[in-house]
Amino acid sequence: MLRFHSLRFSSSLFAPPLPLSPVSISITKPTRLTPRMASYSTSSSSSKLLFRQLFEKESSTYTYLLADASHPEKPALLIDPVDKTVDRDLSLIQQLGLKLVYAMNTHVHADHVTGTGLIKSKVPVVKSVISKASGATADLHVEQGDKVHFGDLFLEIRATPGHTAGCITYVTGDTPDQPQPRMAFAGDALLIRGCGRTDFQGGSSEQLYKSVHSQIFTLPKDTLLYPAHDYKGFTVSTVGEELQYNPRLTKDEETFKNIMANLSLSYSKMIDIAVPANMVCGIQSKTS
Ligand SMILES: [Fe+2]
Repeated sequence: MLRFHSLRFSSSLFAPPLPLSPVSISITKPTRLTPRMASYSTSSSSSKLLFRQLFEKESSTYTYLLADASHPEKPALLIDPVDKTVDRDLSLIQQLGLKLVYAMNTHVHADHVTGTGLIKSKVPVVKSVISKASGATADLHVEQGDKVHFGDLFLEIRATPGHTAGCITYVTGDTPDQPQPRMAFAGDALLIRGCGRTDFQGGSSEQLYKSVHSQIFTLPKDTLLYPAHDYKGFTVSTVGEELQYNPRLTKDEETFKNIMANLSLSYSKMIDIAVPANMVCGIQSKTS
């Protein structure tokens, strides 16, 4: 298993035609911060971040594509890819001239098979990323405070357990050279006007309440919130909006725990297939 102390490598697929110096990709621990260069405006029109929100309709899952478009090799990552839409995602990445380096999951999903294993079989240089606390197989395991670098951009890892024991939220960097407003990819920890269930996979409503309030609601109010799913057609929210309007997490902790204990949700129809597959990068997706 690779550890992530200043991991650096050069990937070759989807590379531009001209020879270029190796792209610098790394995951760093909090104590090993790499200074980043402040070299661009952070407004949406001139940001170096290339961003796409992609949708998988059967499980209503959002997959997010992020890339450093200003870097000569355009290093890119996918958050929460789905096995059924891997070909679409890889085709888009190729059309945009990006070089995919990471396939990352916010948690071990119970409602769909991750596309990570399939992506790795098609683009072997891609490294899979998941939390250490998930217990799942991956090339790289991350935890609170780690940073995933792609080009001059990075995502910070925040541990947000409660929906599952290994849930993490990926947040864009807090330095002036990173996109503003910040963006939080919260998986199922915090959904738009909702949250993930807490009744399986090591879930805990008490833990989820603490995670959201300490790790997400403490972000700037204009932070854009991108969930792993939406079932009503919403695409994005903000921390400020959810602080004001989330019908569950605006309540006090006891009320929240009562709400979560009385949801009467049905058994997840994909869980017996998805969870075992996702514990090993979705490699078993061939059976689905
Ligand atoms: Fe989930």
